[in-house]
Amino acid sequence: TMAKTTLRVNGQRRELTLDTRTSLLDALREHIKLSGTKKGCDQGQCGACTVIVNGRRINSCLSLAIMHDGDEITTIEGLGTPDKLHPMQAAFVKHDGYQCGYCTPGQICSAVATLDEIRQGIPSHVSADLNVKPLLSVDEIRERMSGNICRCGAYSNILDAITEVGG
Ligand code: FES
Repeated sequence: TMAKTTLRVNGQRRELTLDTRTSLLDALREHIKLSGTKKGCDQGQCGACTVIVNGRRINSCLSLAIMHDGDEITTIEGLGTPDKLHPMQAAFVKHDGYQCGYCTPGQICSAVATLDEIRQGIPSHVSADLNVKPLLSVDEIRERMSGNICRCGAYSNILDAITEVGG
């Protein structure tokens, strides 16, 4: 069955006609052609597909696109640009928070959203204000990021990056 769905992705309205079984991840990658969001396991276990929906992070492989009609979706492409990185992206670069880079978009979306959950009332992709630090302990950050797997094992650098922004 096909259905019409309107998503707002990185501030842009996208009208799609999709097979109702299409995951949000496939809608983003295959239909909207935003390939920054990665497909790792496609089963909700790795976090590579993490995007921010109405301010909350989700695994986009586990969600049907048609469930997000009207939702505000932010992907890694919407967080910053090569000229003007989001502070979390800049921190990942500074601390080498990746190795192969495949999990990185999910790691960064996840980190941004979880810190924003704490900085209540400040919407995710606009809150570049580093003066508002959630002041999380390293253990809290580790716990909150436990759904994002890095097969290269770059965890300590990832942790350093997130700690700089939110610790
Ligand atoms: Fe969605 Fe792994 S691809 S959690």
